[in-house]
Amino acid sequence: MKSYNIAVIPGDGTGPEVVVEGVKALDAAGERYGFKLDYTHFDFGGDRYLKTGEILPDSAIEELSKFDAIYLGAIGHPDVKPGVLEKGILLRMRFELDQYINLRPVKLYPGIECPLKDKGPEHIDFVVVRENTEGLYAGAGGFLKKGTADEVAVQESINTRKGVERCLRYAFEYCQKRNKEKALTLCGKTNVLTYAFDLWQRTFNEIAPDYPDIKTDYAHVDAITMWMVKNPEWFDVIVTDNMFGDIITDLGAMIQGGMGIAAGGNINPEGVSMFEPIGGSAPKYKGQNKINPLAAICAGGMMLEHLGEDEAGKMIEKSVMEVTAKHLKSLAAGKMGHTTTEVGDMVTNLVGKL
Ligand code: IPM
Ligand code: MN
Repeated sequence: MKSYNIAVIPGDGTGPEVVVEGVKALDAAGERYGFKLDYTHFDFGGDRYLKTGEILPDSAIEELSKFDAIYLGAIGHPDVKPGVLEKGILLRMRFELDQYINLRPVKLYPGIECPLKDKGPEHIDFVVVRENTEGLYAGAGGFLKKGTADEVAVQESINTRKGVERCLRYAFEYCQKRNKEKALTLCGKTNVLTYAFDLWQRTFNEIAPDYPDIKTDYAHVDAITMWMVKNPEWFDVIVTDNMFGDIITDLGAMIQGGMGIAAGGNINPEGVSMFEPIGGSAPKYKGQNKINPLAAICAGGMMLEHLGEDEAGKMIEKSVMEVTAKHLKSLAAGKMGHTTTEVGDMVTNLVGKL
């Protein structure tokens, strides 16, 4: 039987609870489709940091790089200063494992209330390909005369030809494989960021002829936020830099029903990739069996597709759609009409028999 080694990082807040539900659904998929998942748990997160002072052990990256995939709950702890764990764990893994794509599907499932008037599942189904290792996230910059009246703070956006091109090529290829509208939109800000997005646009235009079946388009990021609300049906695949991708995918999460359902993959096509619900650790719901596990379950489905278990991944998504269509009152924590465990059980049962 085929088997996969999965590193599991439950993390902080409600991360562990949603990961438990995800693992149940993954195991049911494995049973049905004839593969096995072997899990190794890592306790990286706020509690470990507060206890030991260690954020991520030096050996961690090397160790994680040997797995077939990483399944992550959430990082972020109310007793730790913002940024410490996010940068020290989440961003460090993305960077050092060179997960240069952050893949974020924005899809409205049936039965989910959409905040946009007159929009349904037929209107909201696109994917954002976010660059995941460069841009403003690279950490370039610094202070001058910090703490004085003359203080200067500089934060630079790093865009390398290699980094931009590999992201764009991934987006073109993803758009081909997705085989829906075959339309790729570059999201930038060429009217103001005349260096960074000049490089993005030039590279985009240069490589587009390599993908003659893909229609290309460009929109400024501010306009994209407008169209995502007014005409989300226009989009098939959007490709953009790290910061813009971060922002527009939170908007994307809202139009697909909220953080309870939004999943993403941090992809290194040549290395180890990491899958996560994008909503964060929601510490106020920790341990209450109220948080929505569907985003984590969907992230698990994406992980299976990435591992080549396409049918199994699609079955997880189909089961989630069945649950949203027929069994949930709301996607919000505490308002689902079911506990976290019950929602996980419903999906798991469907994965086994739907
Ligand atoms: C996300 C998150 C992270 C990001 C934070 C927690 C560092 O918002 O995954 O979108 O900005 O990338
Ligand atoms: Mn974000």
